[in-house]
Amino acid sequence: MSKPLASGHKAVPFEGEELAKQLRDFPGYRLGIVRLTPGDWMFPIDYVKFADKIYNFKYRPSDVMVMTYPKCGTTWMQELVWTMRNNPDLNHPMAVLPVMARSPFQEMDMLVGDLAEVTSDNNPFYEGFRLLCPGKDPADGLMLQLSEAIPDPRTIKSHLPFSLHNPALLDTVKVIYVARNPKDVIISYHHHSRLINMHGFQGEFKDFVKYFVDDDLVYSPYWLHVKEAWEKRHHPNLHFVFFEDLKADVIGELKKLNAFLDTKLTDAQLSDIAKYASFTEMKKREAAAGGNEAEMEFFNSEVVKKDGGFFRKGESGDWKGKFTPELEAMVDKWTAEKMTSFGITFKYAV
Ligand code: A3P
Repeated sequence: MSKPLASGHKAVPFEGEELAKQLRDFPGYRLGIVRLTPGDWMFPIDYVKFADKIYNFKYRPSDVMVMTYPKCGTTWMQELVWTMRNNPDLNHPMAVLPVMARSPFQEMDMLVGDLAEVTSDNNPFYEGFRLLCPGKDPADGLMLQLSEAIPDPRTIKSHLPFSLHNPALLDTVKVIYVARNPKDVIISYHHHSRLINMHGFQGEFKDFVKYFVDDDLVYSPYWLHVKEAWEKRHHPNLHFVFFEDLKADVIGELKKLNAFLDTKLTDAQLSDIAKYASFTEMKKREAAAGGNEAEMEFFNSEVVKKDGGFFRKGESGDWKGKFTPELEAMVDKWTAEKMTSFGITFKYAV
């Protein structure tokens, strides 16, 4: 790993006590973890395997990239964008497939420790791969190859920050960046990290909060992720959205998206799409198309039964009452130091 990645970053594997602590709390990263310099980005070691392919991905001007730190409402935005561009009258035959089979998660392959977990018949992502990538080997990147193979116009999801994508990205494609208040991100990412075996979080909530403010979670640092997008927010190809604004006024946000994407949809179409992509409707559809989460190998069935599946709550301010005063003060301090300093503020943050 001495050679720099195409992005110019150097990947340094975790070792010793630092590695042991992460593997104890996140057994899903059993193959290893790397930290990138500069930026201190943290990833499962397989990021290195796919990093240059992602950096050199062949984009087309009609592509739209939905970019976020995990748990900021990516899936909701993917469904809105895919539907606005591919299914404005809600009659597209592929719409029955789960969101990620139509709008792939570009770098997901780095999280897949065991391919068998995602290539079972019971896996909704694999469905899209089988349909669109016949004869291809999922080991070469199931989601990466699916991202290449889906028909135009493509809507691709990435949780990677701008600095790990090709600098030409924003001059080539439209990017929608979604940010969410840090406390709801922590609650949602904590649930997700327990739910999905590829993370497999075993620690306590207070440990997770500490990992977050120490920038020691996969895809962290959150503040730098948001900062890189915030600084580009006036670029004509970037549309910056807050999860809280989508929740408060989905129609208002859809009108802005309609202008940004140049989709020319009517108010009636936007209203139908807002309902179709509501939390309740998406949860129903994924349950029907994606199968039973409690039975899927990559979900922790105990967590699904006790605390819910992927579509957990979909609210703003759900963090209230879930942090001790000490933990809340820790996050407030981190937010003031790391985020308020570059000029961003979040609704529902206090
Ligand atoms: P919660 O855990 O707070 O419920 P991502 O897609 O980036 O992983 O983000 C997931 C978060 O968005 C989860 O938040 C999920 O429930 C929420 N979400 C997904 N679809 C949604 C929708 N249609 N409306 C509102 N929230 C949604």
